[in-house]
Amino acid sequence: MSSSLRHLLLLRRRGFSAAAAAAAVLSPSDPSAVLSAKQKSRAALSLLKSESDPERILSICRSADLHPSSHLDRHSLSLAITNLSKTNSTSSIQTLVSSLLLQRRDAKSLSHAIVLFGQAGMLDSALSAFTSSPPSTKNLNSLLFAAILAKDHPSVERFFRMFPDVEPDVDTYNVVVKSFSESGSTRSAYSLLDEMRKKNIEPNTTTFNTMISGFYRENKLDEVDKVIDLMRRKYNSQPGLSTYNERIMSLCKLKRSKEAKGLFDEMVRKKMKMNPVTYSHLIVGFCKEGDLEEAKRFYGEMKKKGLVAGSSCYFSLIHYLCQGEDFEAALGVCNEMMERNWVPCFATMKLLVKGLAKIGKGEEASEIVGKMKERFPGNAEMWKEVEEGLPK
Ligand SMILES: *[C@@H]1O[C@H](CO)[C@@H](O)[C@H](O)[C@H]1NC(C)=O
Ligand SMILES: *[C@@H]1O[C@H](CO)[C@@H](O)[C@H](O)[C@H]1NC(C)=O
Ligand SMILES: *[C@@H]1O[C@H](CO)[C@@H](O)[C@H](O)[C@H]1NC(C)=O
Repeated sequence: MSSSLRHLLLLRRRGFSAAAAAAAVLSPSDPSAVLSAKQKSRAALSLLKSESDPERILSICRSADLHPSSHLDRHSLSLAITNLSKTNSTSSIQTLVSSLLLQRRDAKSLSHAIVLFGQAGMLDSALSAFTSSPPSTKNLNSLLFAAILAKDHPSVERFFRMFPDVEPDVDTYNVVVKSFSESGSTRSAYSLLDEMRKKNIEPNTTTFNTMISGFYRENKLDEVDKVIDLMRRKYNSQPGLSTYNERIMSLCKLKRSKEAKGLFDEMVRKKMKMNPVTYSHLIVGFCKEGDLEEAKRFYGEMKKKGLVAGSSCYFSLIHYLCQGEDFEAALGVCNEMMERNWVPCFATMKLLVKGLAKIGKGEEASEIVGKMKERFPGNAEMWKEVEEGLPK
């Protein structure tokens, strides 16, 4: 923990209000206590995580002077907006976005402000921020994206047609295609492709992948084939890894993992390179359909290739293996995760420990509990009941 965070927590424990602690840490009167930008960002984020009062959220963001060029600060801003919209604090959101972003008067801050208004569902404010400066393609794209975040799909199209003087680019079209795809009207994307052709704007893989996932969601599998055919014939573009991954993910979500595996086999035949994403979709897909053997097979193959998926794939696998009472396999996956310092949630670990005890592997069970208590001493209490149930 950084010293600034420690100092902050100390002030909180001494009964300082969050706002007072924030002010003391983020803008100290003692010049020697001035924080580096990064320390400030961290302190602000940690304060925001436990704050729900609109006034205090506002004062934290302001004292930290959050800036959209910092990744951490963008995260904090987004967190603050999410919480402020939960309490319908539109005027606080307006104040926050104006004072921290709009007043900076640079392009990056403006486009970020537009997106944040969208996240808060305040499209009128997003639109007036957009019109407050000479319109650019980048800001139009932010405005369209804002409407997607606000889940207001009709406004995406409305804004798209509202500013004919702004030259769209492939990104502009991709956002509109995404809106069609997320609102169950993917077929409308075909006319956008025609429009792009007339304007000499080349669609890219994102355009096609977005259409493909939309058609899968709408269960229009013949349309998926049409898009693939279009890519090949009209755009001279062979479906690559990302398109295969998109299709495999979509099929697994539709509980059609067997067909997803068919695509995987096609990739093998074409000697294409799979990545961990390919495997994790299949592993989780087969788990969800109760085919643990197939899930384990893909897991083994991924491991053999030295590929490492995101932690959630392993968490799901352990969870489903425990549910299917294949505790031994679950233990194997769990041990591998522990080596990476990844730990599944308490509920899953409890399932595993109890299951291991049931199949006569009490020793392994106790070992896991020991490791968990060592890693998270604060949770030792939670393991008490589980431990009491273990064979001595
Ligand atoms: C919002 O406020 C709640 C407290 O009400 C807090 O627990 C949470 O972490 C805050 N952030 C988000 C993004 O919900
Ligand atoms: C916020 O507004 C929505 C819609 O107007 C309403 O359903 C919700 O209850 C409000 N929430 C709070 C916390 O006031
Ligand atoms: C397609 O173009 C957009 C805009 O330039 C870009 O953000 C996106 O990454 C591109 N997609 C691919 C797959 O290259």
